Amino acid sequence: MKHIFTTYRYAIIVLSSLLVLSCTLQTNKRHYIIGVSQCSEDSWRTKLKAELEQSTYFHDGIDLRIMSADDDVQMQKQQIHELIAQGIDLLIVSPQQTHSLSDAIKEATEKGVPVIMFDRKSDVKDYTAFMGADNFAIGEMMGEYAASQLGGIGNIIEIAGEHGSSPAMERHRGFNEAISRYPGLKIIGYAEGDWKQNSGDEAMSKILSGMHGTDIAIDCIFGGNDRMALGARSALERYSQSHPGALRRMPSSVIYLGVDALPTPGGGIEKVQQGLLTASAIYPTHGNELMDLAVAILQGEPFEKNTGMETSIVTSANAKVLLMQYKEIITQDEYIKKMQTRVDSIMKELDTERTLLFFIVLVVVIVCVSLVGTVRTIKIKHRLNEHLKQKNHELELQKETAERQRDELEEQRDKLIEATMHNQQNKEQDDEMLYDDEKADFRQQNEFIQKFNRAVDDNMSNSDLSVEDIGDIMLLSRVQLYRRVKAMTGKSPVEIIRERRLKRANLLLADTSLSVSEIAYRVGFASPSYFTKCYKDFFGHSPKGT
Ligand code: AHR
Repeated sequence: MKHIFTTYRYAIIVLSSLLVLSCTLQTNKRHYIIGVSQCSEDSWRTKLKAELEQSTYFHDGIDLRIMSADDDVQMQKQQIHELIAQGIDLLIVSPQQTHSLSDAIKEATEKGVPVIMFDRKSDVKDYTAFMGADNFAIGEMMGEYAASQLGGIGNIIEIAGEHGSSPAMERHRGFNEAISRYPGLKIIGYAEGDWKQNSGDEAMSKILSGMHGTDIAIDCIFGGNDRMALGARSALERYSQSHPGALRRMPSSVIYLGVDALPTPGGGIEKVQQGLLTASAIYPTHGNELMDLAVAILQGEPFEKNTGMETSIVTSANAKVLLMQYKEIITQDEYIKKMQTRVDSIMKELDTERTLLFFIVLVVVIVCVSLVGTVRTIKIKHRLNEHLKQKNHELELQKETAERQRDELEEQRDKLIEATMHNQQNKEQDDEMLYDDEKADFRQQNEFIQKFNRAVDDNMSNSDLSVEDIGDIMLLSRVQLYRRVKAMTGKSPVEIIRERRLKRANLLLADTSLSVSEIAYRVGFASPSYFTKCYKDFFGHSPKGT
């Protein structure tokens, strides 16, 4: 029995452990925190942010924390510090300035946080990986494009990006390198902006304010990005209106070149299609590839230390197609998002169903184990009962034999008394006693028998009650008792005791709802089977209890 409960307990412990293990396995997937430190907030970075967020759908357990410093170097330093303090596993950083952020980036590398330099560079050399387009090549490509559009002759104004940032410097170098190949091309104005449209406007206005005369020849404006090129165009248009006839070329026929060529609404490609920009160099965001690189580093997979991003030029010839393609991509993206939402909800349902199934299996197994345990318990109980019954039966037989032998012994002893009745010594006493009894009248005899019966009745439930016990009560020896009882009733005391027991039993059978066994014990039989035998011998039929 103990064994069954131990097995049962073990089964429950094992199953519960399995449950805990399966829950732990489900929740034990590796989670990564990826910190993104953006130098500023603009449409190009908004697109990148959206791509990074979207790409987390394809990688489990990514917690993306993006911070933007709004072109404030101190703020970006502080934000990098905060991200490290939050326990990021990897840092993606687009440094506002090449030199000023070295300490903050070093803090990450020194703490073992892998660093991906993205889009912009820093003078820190032990970064983990770099991903970005070749800004020198972009500048050079736009310089070549300007030369081709101007036929190698013309005046150019350059509005460069923010001073100290790597794309601004590289684009400037690349552009000037290309222009220097054409002796007929001249850069007649240079100013720096801060990547925002307004800064392009301001920079251009400043340049124009230094130009005097009525034949100002501006053939091309190269902006460090599209927004600054558009800002410069606004300034030129305003200047043209406020200085009629001052410009040799009308603003609408000037070549405006920019960088970024965002396909998003209001972005560079749309501006090219609208004719507001002549051309723009694609400066890809590639947030998805950036996330793939981050995950590869985090998971210890092989990765490229430097990942370049391809670029190309957008002109009125391909702007429409590119926008159409982008719209198509957006439609597909929307569809993928919907599918992802659907997959998410299906996965949640599956999770719930799997947990439910696990519990059902657990319950079924527990029920089966308990059933097996119960069946085994019942079988063992049954075997024990059988064994007990057998033992009881044997005991009953022994009791019956013992009781029968005791009665036979009593009868033998009575016979012995009979046989010794002629013994001289006893005979004298007996004769004397019998004489007394003869002298005793009927009333006295009746009283003696009544006293004898009472002694029997009072001790009836005692199965060990012997003739000697009655004799002790009546202050007579067994022999004396035997002789007097025999003389008065013609029966031995043993016979009378048994008769009284059986008659009482008969009354109890008729008047009570007690069972035969209970009655047998009540009237002083130790063995119900012996009682049944004696009853049948006496009454001629078996006792019928309830
Ligand atoms: O760092 C590159 C420049 O940053 C992008 O060309 C510009 O649009 C962005 O702000």
